[in-house]
Amino acid sequence: TTNRTFTMLKPDSIEKGNIGAILEKINAAGFKIVAMKLTQMTENDAKAFYAVHKERPFFNDLVTYMTRGPIVAAILEKSNAVEDFRALIGATNPEEAAEGTIRKLFATSISENAIHGSDSDENAAIEGAFHFAGREVF
Ligand code: CMP
Repeated sequence: TTNRTFTMLKPDSIEKGNIGAILEKINAAGFKIVAMKLTQMTENDAKAFYAVHKERPFFNDLVTYMTRGPIVAAILEKSNAVEDFRALIGATNPEEAAEGTIRKLFATSISENAIHGSDSDENAAIEGAFHFAGREVF
């Protein structure tokens, strides 16, 4: 089992000046950054990345949101990374997210929810490879 997960600080986090505060939470929780960059997804990137949601009513808004400005993409390392990171970020809907979680602290709404965390080891590997070349991962 892998000890890595993939995250994106979504455009609302960058717009609100929350990169530093969110990275502080991630480091304080024991995650080591092994890849990181500021980048912007194209429409095709976002449609491919979120293909699992393509029949959902929020799909077009999700693509618009995720492409409207830069994101911070990163690969994180820690034991039990996927599960522990999803606990750190909290529920999709910030109104349901636990106190102290990143989404409780920084999300705007259920749709603009500050941060992504992979939902399985398999998706962590796929999503990391979507954003990073091998030489960018340390
Ligand atoms: P995430 O769970 O990381 O991936 C799917 C994203 O779709 C979700 O975060 C939100 O950014 C967005 N989204 C918008 N509306 C909804 C909704 N009603 N339910 C779930 N996700 C939503």
